[in-house]
Amino acid sequence: MKKTIILLAMALLAIQPLRADEGMWLPALISQRIDDMQKNGFRLTAEDIYSINQASLKDAVVLFGSGCTGELVSDDGLLLTNHHCGYSYIQRHSSVEHDYLKDGFWAMSRSEELPNRGLTVSFLERMDDVTAEVLKGCHDGMSEADRDARIRKNSDALIKKATKDGKGLQARVEALYYGNQYYLFIYKVYRDVRLVGAPPSSIGKFGGETDNWMWPRHTGDFSIFRIYAGRDNEPADYSADNVPFHPKRSMRISRTGVKPGDFTFVYGCPGSTREYVIGEDVHYIGYESDPRKIALRTTRLDIQKKYMSQSQAVRIQYSSKYASVANAWKKWQGESKGIVRLGTVASKKAYEARFREWARGGRYDGLVDKLYGLYERRNPYYLASEYYSETIRTIELVQFAAQVKNRLGDARAKSELAETFFKDYYQPIDEEIFEAMVGAFDSQVDDSFKPEWFRQTLASYGSVKAWRDDLFARSIFTDKARVLALGEEDAAAVDQDPAIQLSEAFAAWYSEQISPVLSAVNKDINLAYRDYMRAQMEFEPDRAFYPDANLTLRVAYGHVEGYSPSDAIEYYPVSTLKGIIEKDDPDIFDYNIPQVLRDIYAEGGHDDQPVCFLATNHTSGGNSGSPVMNADGALVGINFDRVWEGTMSDVAFDPAFCRNISLDIRYLLFVVEHVGHASYLFDEMHFAD
Ligand code: ARG
Ligand code: ASP
Repeated sequence: MKKTIILLAMALLAIQPLRADEGMWLPALISQRIDDMQKNGFRLTAEDIYSINQASLKDAVVLFGSGCTGELVSDDGLLLTNHHCGYSYIQRHSSVEHDYLKDGFWAMSRSEELPNRGLTVSFLERMDDVTAEVLKGCHDGMSEADRDARIRKNSDALIKKATKDGKGLQARVEALYYGNQYYLFIYKVYRDVRLVGAPPSSIGKFGGETDNWMWPRHTGDFSIFRIYAGRDNEPADYSADNVPFHPKRSMRISRTGVKPGDFTFVYGCPGSTREYVIGEDVHYIGYESDPRKIALRTTRLDIQKKYMSQSQAVRIQYSSKYASVANAWKKWQGESKGIVRLGTVASKKAYEARFREWARGGRYDGLVDKLYGLYERRNPYYLASEYYSETIRTIELVQFAAQVKNRLGDARAKSELAETFFKDYYQPIDEEIFEAMVGAFDSQVDDSFKPEWFRQTLASYGSVKAWRDDLFARSIFTDKARVLALGEEDAAAVDQDPAIQLSEAFAAWYSEQISPVLSAVNKDINLAYRDYMRAQMEFEPDRAFYPDANLTLRVAYGHVEGYSPSDAIEYYPVSTLKGIIEKDDPDIFDYNIPQVLRDIYAEGGHDDQPVCFLATNHTSGGNSGSPVMNADGALVGINFDRVWEGTMSDVAFDPAFCRNISLDIRYLLFVVEHVGHASYLFDEMHFAD
């Protein structure tokens, strides 16, 4: 009886209309949401957000590089993003003499701004529904292969047409809702982007891995760039003659800040979500994949940490590697916990039960069962591929060997690769990771999903340890001088190297035995989702659906709000400088703030200086650096993270736990002024109040 009530409650929960805070909406269709946004406090119009007839807020937002967002804050191309988005560029400019990562960097005039090879920013010119054009010539009876070919041909023609006039134009046709809709996105890409300012890492990365994905948070996660253009204001390669770019629109900055309950919206490029998948997919993520990957990464992190704590040099070498392993590791913990807590699998199944009932006898009859069948076929292959990436492919030497082999004929590329690799390589860590990860692959992967070569080799060595000792003793790739001396004439010797043999045996196994099955079944899964997506829309005609994230520009809106992470704890959504001082500890790397911050604080009067805030906006990876705006469209923050308890928002949004974390724009202004002494930058900013 109790069970029935619970199931009933879940079923009811599943049919509730979306809460206002869930959703990442297409800017071009924001008019469909504008009433709701205004009901929640927004005071601008749909045209203010997105317009192709006049400058709108979209013209002040960019895709920064290929995985972050940035926003324009001056008429001279000044751009804000996160410190962690600019990190690799700041690092490249750093050396022992100029350690910008450690000390920060502030250009004191435009001539001191630093160019960044390879860095681009992309402005969305416009986005158009091209479903009819893309599907022209497709008909029900045709094969999927013919249909694909037709879609590709139509898309190519659209892209060609869209990019033929105008410098720096790029276009992409993106399938939304699993190919039920197609949109053409036209971008203008600028490629001279210079570093203007970055706080010391002890501010920009304050809290490090300890605080990553956490609240209370006090990270000053920002960096400042400037876009340059040719004299015609159009995209151009780096040149000393280029001039600051004049955007169609820049953002006004609010110095009033936010308080609990205030309306906020985030304009940016979320990377990837899967909100409409079946319970089986969520089960795989939350109960299979995440827990296994977390355990594997815990082992790797423990090994790295052990050596990092013994030596300052090793800590520097591995800090960035450690950070990238730890980032997803922590996110997955929140994701799987959240999926379990929210009962997402059960509520999806309850939803599917009602869907089946509705679909009986119609064209979608059997569709959900078909999807379950496809996952049954996919999962063991997918698991094997995930093990491959999380074990064998984490052995640094093996990866390096394969990269060197590909560059044997290119002495310069090879030596650059070797320099970078050996600068940050500590062999004892790699040896220990080899032993742990090869061991995990052997003990945790089903025999039928191991390369035959692997089983034979391991058997011939007798133990993983013996294999490890032999590989590291014999491989030429552990020795920088030998790597530098390698040339094309050494191809045969390279092929015999134990690191290359391991790398190639696995690569061959993957491409022959795993990848073909996976791609075929994934294709079928996507096709089935094309139907299931459309079917869900017919099943729930009154529900507002938003397309899954795909790194295209989206608007999310919500409000400033804390949350309760567990019984008897209630988080307040705003953090202040006082909290930084409370955490400050010169003996803890993550919490050792620069002396200047201590001095400023000691002067008094800065207790209430806001630092970060929480809100209910639905964001994802890629939204880092996104502008967070208030009801009047003025910039109040820069998005940089979510709370770990809510990271399952990529699969299911839990209004009680899903919060995005933003830097309060006033902390940026504070650091620029007091730490960077670069308040000359304020002269070109526009303040709303
Ligand atoms: N968790 C944030 C995101 O997914 C920030 C990552 C960078 N910071 C760090 N401490 N690793 O990108
Ligand atoms: N920190 C993420 C990013 O870099 C944002 C998130 O996952 O919430 O895009």
